[in-house]
Amino acid sequence: MSGPPLPIVRCRSLGVRFGEAASGTRALEGVDLEVGEGEFLTIVGASGCGKSTLLRTIGGLVGYCDGAVEIDGHLVRGPGVDRAMVFQNYSLYPWLTVTENIRFTRTLRAFTQDRTSSSVEAALARSDALLALMGLQKVAHAHPNQLSGGMQQRVAIARALMGRPRILLMDEPFGALDAQTREVMHDLILHVSRLERSTVLFVTHDVEEAIYLGGRVVLMAPQPGRIDSVHAVPLPSLRTQEMKLSPEFLRLKSRILERIRETSGMRTDLDLLARLSIQEQGIS
Ligand SMILES: Nc1ncnc2c1ncn2[C@@H]1O[C@H](COP(=O)(O)OP(=O)(O)O)[C@@H](O)[C@H]1O
Ligand SMILES: [Mg+2]
Repeated sequence: MSGPPLPIVRCRSLGVRFGEAASGTRALEGVDLEVGEGEFLTIVGASGCGKSTLLRTIGGLVGYCDGAVEIDGHLVRGPGVDRAMVFQNYSLYPWLTVTENIRFTRTLRAFTQDRTSSSVEAALARSDALLALMGLQKVAHAHPNQLSGGMQQRVAIARALMGRPRILLMDEPFGALDAQTREVMHDLILHVSRLERSTVLFVTHDVEEAIYLGGRVVLMAPQPGRIDSVHAVPLPSLRTQEMKLSPEFLRLKSRILERIRETSGMRTDLDLLARLSIQEQGIS
């Protein structure tokens, strides 16, 4: 067989609606998207444009009414071990230690489904490797409430990686972290995704974050939620923080920000405000 390899994720004319057909919210409409194996794709757009819905639909947590979502050419009919999600609120089990949180689901599966000691051993070995990779060894026996937000999010990412998912779906995972911790997490997740060869779909409302992490940036627009444009990031794949100051980075950032203002109606609001204040000045 010739031709390019099949994309690992493919959305075709995807539509998602919440509520009644006539009066409900058109959260996604006509979404066409192909994500290649090993790609780091970031998704930005104003709040309410359907970013979370797109990610959750690919994750099999939200059903669709039009079109199709495929993983490796197979229709998505629900969640699967090939996909793992990471959210902004770390959603860890507070009564389990760091190690137990990371091991929980996979070792449970090993115990209840495979029931072989080798699969349990493999799970334990992987959790140790992930503890080391995420820099969590020192807090292995701590509970989540004893950790900073950045550390908790490392645990959540390690837990998501535990089942060797081929696709990592991340919904504003660093949104609650301070700027410095976020920069550390950015370099960590780039490193980890390369090592694990994961395909990552990463949602954020932060354009700088989207460009720094992404090989491509997908810009979504609201009402109905749709893809407005896709921007290839003109930077080497090995990123360094200094690149954020490069002309290519800044040019793409201002182009995307401008487009978000246009598509979200914010610019029209500002234009209207400007006209009103000119009128008021005329009155007084
Ligand atoms: N479970 C739901 N029930 C009803 N409406 C929803 C639901 N989830 C999302 N929506 C609506 O769908 C639209 C897209 O939401 P969302 O995907 O959360 O956007 P984003 O993540 O870009 O902020 C919004 O108008 C939102 O109010
Ligand atoms: Mg969201």
